[in-house]
Amino acid sequence: MEEKKTIFSGVQPSGNITLGNYLGAIKNWIDLQENYNCIYAMMDMHAITVRQNPQELRKRTLDLLKIYIACGIDPEKSLLFIQSQVPAHAQLAWVLNCFTYMGELSRMTQFKDKCAKHADNINAGLFTYPVLMAADILLYQADLVPVGKDQMQHIEITRDIAQRFNALYSGEGKPVFTMPEGFLPKAGAKVMSLAEPTKKMSKSDENPKAYISILDDFNVIANKIKSAITDSEGVIEYRPDDDTKAGINNLLTIMSAVTGREIEKIAEEYSTKGYGDFKKDVAEAVVEEIRPIRTRYDELSGNKDYLMDICKKGAEEAGKIAGRTLSKVYKKVGFVM
Ligand code: TYM
Repeated sequence: MEEKKTIFSGVQPSGNITLGNYLGAIKNWIDLQENYNCIYAMMDMHAITVRQNPQELRKRTLDLLKIYIACGIDPEKSLLFIQSQVPAHAQLAWVLNCFTYMGELSRMTQFKDKCAKHADNINAGLFTYPVLMAADILLYQADLVPVGKDQMQHIEITRDIAQRFNALYSGEGKPVFTMPEGFLPKAGAKVMSLAEPTKKMSKSDENPKAYISILDDFNVIANKIKSAITDSEGVIEYRPDDDTKAGINNLLTIMSAVTGREIEKIAEEYSTKGYGDFKKDVAEAVVEEIRPIRTRYDELSGNKDYLMDICKKGAEEAGKIAGRTLSKVYKKVGFVM
């Protein structure tokens, strides 16, 4: 039998988990569980590249685990763990730092964006963040990394680092690292802000009307969609290259991602309707998508022992897999073992 391929992905517990995180990443992880070895982590080490309140970070990390499970990630099928509980991530990141150039890191658009946003705290972690992400992926020899569009540049640099290391150290044998590939969802790879639809929906947006949190009340979700910024043309049409249609393009994308229907079909169906009717239906579709997630999330809330147990076992198992790659790397670079 052919060996199953490996999937690795994760979300930072750095804010309210948004509809963008769900449609761009988590929703896409669920089906993969059937045919792949799936590893999904809570990326808390990445989160501290911007200042976090410690109590909140701790809470958000376990809330994120609840969200994974509530969305349909099955702890019996997938390996779930907290990044900081597996020291190999920091260890491999250090080694890979020595194989990554300042020039390539300074070209990362997320680094430039975050520098603009956190001008008072441009720390070295923010700069080397993609190296830690490369370590996350390469430790597990992941074949596929299901993410949203904004993370594709980080997957590219991961591939560059892996290739560089492999070229130097693999010799005649098997490559040290598997070359990972990014994997985007069919719809929802880039969900836009509801307040400024030419900008990405972000969990750290200061304006709560810009994003939908998976944990927002249903009437709040509906109201946010109903007050989403659109345009004054009054025509429901999908024109992805026309920024004046960014709001409508985004709502059509969201509708397509939650219903699984094609964007063009949805646009056709609404072509004679007004924005008000369309928004009402989008709001209803999103609420119906989130409703069962919320029910399961609430059920998990009294279950801290169960969650801690998943983290403990997950970290042990992840540590074993990651340890094998780390030993290989340590040997290759010449550390005494
Ligand atoms: P993060 O926490 O910013 O986002 C988690 C996932 O959600 C996707 N995403 C979106 N997708 C569509 N539309 C949006 N508006 C949107 N916003 C976010 C992201 O693309 C991502 O897939 N660096 C990563 C976390 C990470 C990671 C990794 C991911 C750390 N190590 C290793 C994969 C593999 C991040 O900050 O994602």
